[in-house]
Amino acid sequence: MCGIVGYIGPKGAVPILLEGLRKLEYRGYDSAGIAVIEEQKLLLRKSEGKLGVLEERLKEEKFLGDIGLGHTRWATHGKPSNENAHPHHDCKGKLAIVHNGIIENFQAIKKMLEDEGHSFFSETDTEVIAHLIEKFYQGNLVKAVQKATSKLEGSYAIAVISQDNPDQIVAFRQDSPLILGIGEQELYLASDIPALLPYTRKVIILDDGELAELNRKNYQIFDLQGNILEKEIEEIDWDLEMAEKKGFPHYMLKEIHEQPDVLRQLLTTPLKDDGIDLPELGSILDFQKKIDRIFIVACGTAYHSGLIGKALLEKTTKIPVEVDMASEFRYRSPLVGENSLVILVSQSGETADTLAALRYAREKKAKTLGIVNVQGSTIFREADYTLLIKAGLEIAVASTKAYMNMLAAFNLVALKMGEGEFNGEKLAELLHFLREIPAQAEKTLHKIERPSRQAAEYIKNWDNAFFVGRGLDYSLALEGALKLKEISYIHAEAYAAGELKHGTLALIEEGIPVVALVTQEDLLEKMVSNIQEIRARGGYVLGLTQDKFVSRLEGEVDFLLSIPNTSDFLAPLLGTIPLQMISYYAADLRDCPIDQPRNLAKSVTVE
Ligand code: F6R
Repeated sequence: MCGIVGYIGPKGAVPILLEGLRKLEYRGYDSAGIAVIEEQKLLLRKSEGKLGVLEERLKEEKFLGDIGLGHTRWATHGKPSNENAHPHHDCKGKLAIVHNGIIENFQAIKKMLEDEGHSFFSETDTEVIAHLIEKFYQGNLVKAVQKATSKLEGSYAIAVISQDNPDQIVAFRQDSPLILGIGEQELYLASDIPALLPYTRKVIILDDGELAELNRKNYQIFDLQGNILEKEIEEIDWDLEMAEKKGFPHYMLKEIHEQPDVLRQLLTTPLKDDGIDLPELGSILDFQKKIDRIFIVACGTAYHSGLIGKALLEKTTKIPVEVDMASEFRYRSPLVGENSLVILVSQSGETADTLAALRYAREKKAKTLGIVNVQGSTIFREADYTLLIKAGLEIAVASTKAYMNMLAAFNLVALKMGEGEFNGEKLAELLHFLREIPAQAEKTLHKIERPSRQAAEYIKNWDNAFFVGRGLDYSLALEGALKLKEISYIHAEAYAAGELKHGTLALIEEGIPVVALVTQEDLLEKMVSNIQEIRARGGYVLGLTQDKFVSRLEGEVDFLLSIPNTSDFLAPLLGTIPLQMISYYAADLRDCPIDQPRNLAKSVTVE
């Protein structure tokens, strides 16, 4: 999605803006632009395509301005083009604006402004903001932005500079992240923390309805009524190294390999000898007896983790659990009430639909728990309770290590909430396996790399593939198929293996790759029968199982991958690793842009 950066200080703004935009590239974009003020003159350059195109242009121009804004755009209104790229400007070219999000009432505003004589230069919703500010500007940029934003509907973060106020950046946040970075005698602005990391760890996270004025000496933050707010400066503990590839050809491969470490990061503190210590759950545990239903709400990969979370929570707590895609949740009028627990799962903590679901749940007086990776994100701050999954900065658009730690987090929550339901022995056994899981993930990475690559060699030549499984393996199959689709562009479908014969079996043709997940002991024989049905129709079955079931599957599949033995409960954590690797290598063999797949963005802040 779009990215915003801003700088005001003693240095040349352009290299800082470009470096900031580089750090936001992973979010996905199709054009980029900057605006600086130099000798009281607004200068603006923007280009369709990757940042390199803009950089090449700027090399020749050598702008010296020490205040500026930068933006990477992910098209929503109007195709990717130089004209539609941000920053946008007013009629006179005196002020520039960058914007993330969507202005829902832009058409009505545009009509009004056109009737008043404003000329528009792009197809974007953003441009109306520039003209609205121009309309309201009477020498005070803060006041003009306040007035303009009061007319806007939608979710947005904006930043504005004007050559008439060359010592000021004005920024406003409504439902789209915006962060102020505090340096020595200089101030930064960004929509996402990585853009600030090269310069400062000290940040102020703006809340909805807050306006920030950054000037050469200081900053001020105002609420909607124009009152000055005292906001806490937070210290970010991510380090810049996380934003480097560390010798791996792609972030995705690096992040796959980080999984044992991030599992340790999450599990070490809560796993005690005699149980799980999870103070993050707060009073949910006291309230647990009253909970009549749990809802898990998320999007994409996070949603897939929720499907596994459901199975675990229902087993341990005996409370019915529903899993919803966040984009569907509030529109189906779910039966959420004060005895519901609604769990929102999100790597970024900013996904618009998941955030809307959280707000819906809060309106209905449900208790809410965020399972989130980004500290300080909106879901992190707005949920009643938050469990941080501690996967560190995830840069590749395709989520790997965050999914892994979402699964581990669900194990922690399920085991903690289920403590009363388990006998000591069963709990001790599960804790033992959970404690082992980081080392087992390490083993998996080593043993699975080669066979995953071989499996990818087979799959890469096909336009379609299937992933099948039963129980937890079906939920994992959904994630396997999504990963393959999004980075290798091979169409992949996941099916509950027993469901194939009700229609989809018609698509099984000679040689078609079918990844069959067989990690669950109680479903082993059922899966073998389903595999036989597929092979009888010519399907090429790539089986994935635990070491202990290898002998049963030999001869039943065309190609076999196996993960180290673990509890069936935890098998998805290890099973996801070969699925990630197969997708990675298939995408690599097909020369796909692995870290930034076409049309996708890392953090989806529009509905
Ligand atoms: C796929 C992927 C997406 C995200 C989804 C939700 O690899 O990463 O499907 O899982 O967009 O994002 P978050 O977790 O940030 O809410």
